[in-house]
Amino acid sequence: MRETYATDHSQKPEVTGFFDPATNTISYVVKDPASTACAIVDSVMDIDYAAGRISYDHADDLIAFVKDHGLTLEWLIETHVHADHLSAAPYIQAALGGKLGIGRHITTVQETFGKVFNEGTEFQRDGSQFDRLFEDGDRYKVGTLDCVAIHTPGHTPACMTHVMGDAGFVGDTLFMPDGGSARADFPGGDAGVLYDSIQKVLALPDDTRLFMCHDYAPNGRDIRWETSVREQKEHNIHVGAGKTKEDFVKFRTERDAQLDMPRLIIPSLQVNMRGGDLPPADDSGKRFLKVPLNSL
Ligand SMILES: [Fe+2]
Repeated sequence: MRETYATDHSQKPEVTGFFDPATNTISYVVKDPASTACAIVDSVMDIDYAAGRISYDHADDLIAFVKDHGLTLEWLIETHVHADHLSAAPYIQAALGGKLGIGRHITTVQETFGKVFNEGTEFQRDGSQFDRLFEDGDRYKVGTLDCVAIHTPGHTPACMTHVMGDAGFVGDTLFMPDGGSARADFPGGDAGVLYDSIQKVLALPDDTRLFMCHDYAPNGRDIRWETSVREQKEHNIHVGAGKTKEDFVKFRTERDAQLDMPRLIIPSLQVNMRGGDLPPADDSGKRFLKVPLNSL
């Protein structure tokens, strides 16, 4: 493993997962074992897209957990600009404080989708919607917990894996071993780059706990979200047991060509590229989401 990414594995944060059945997303509260400090990774806003109605039941569960346990929220981490659910980070930040962080290459994603949605100049493409833009190898603390951000592009250009003590949050870099990996065909995605990023994760110590952003319960099993570097290396159906980069790129490219767009990609991108903020109100005082035709 590159020394840059080493963390203190004697620090074992208490990780609580919150599964959102509407989007198969898992949000996490990560608590420093030595203090009341915590982080929230990848929160979810509820949306009834057909009705154009948003709500915050899932986020309220996270907020209640943090309050009930007397925790202090220091960080809200977005592993990437999600295309399948909307972030609730600003709503949670308003309730609990904390700093909002995402990968430095969010600016690339903002450039791409700023064009797709024909956003005006008021949409800043400099990442200024976030409190911190992480570079590869950047370090930060959650209380006393030693954390590092690792740039793991491929699914999107801005994807980061966050390692906090012995716990890694991989976003959509990997799925559970029987789920394999996420698609790499969104704008700025690249299957070969994703393979290389996965190798960075698999180079972490074998006992690193790994927490997934999604689980789709393949083969009718129950929902699961925790595995380890060792399990991924041995059993991941897309990259484990010595599968080559060539095998992976061929498989991933063929598979991605058959996938439909995620149900919530259009609202998700418009909100998540703004750090979870809704588009600004127009002159009627109402907020709208756009549907760009034949653009995705
Ligand atoms: Fe994603």
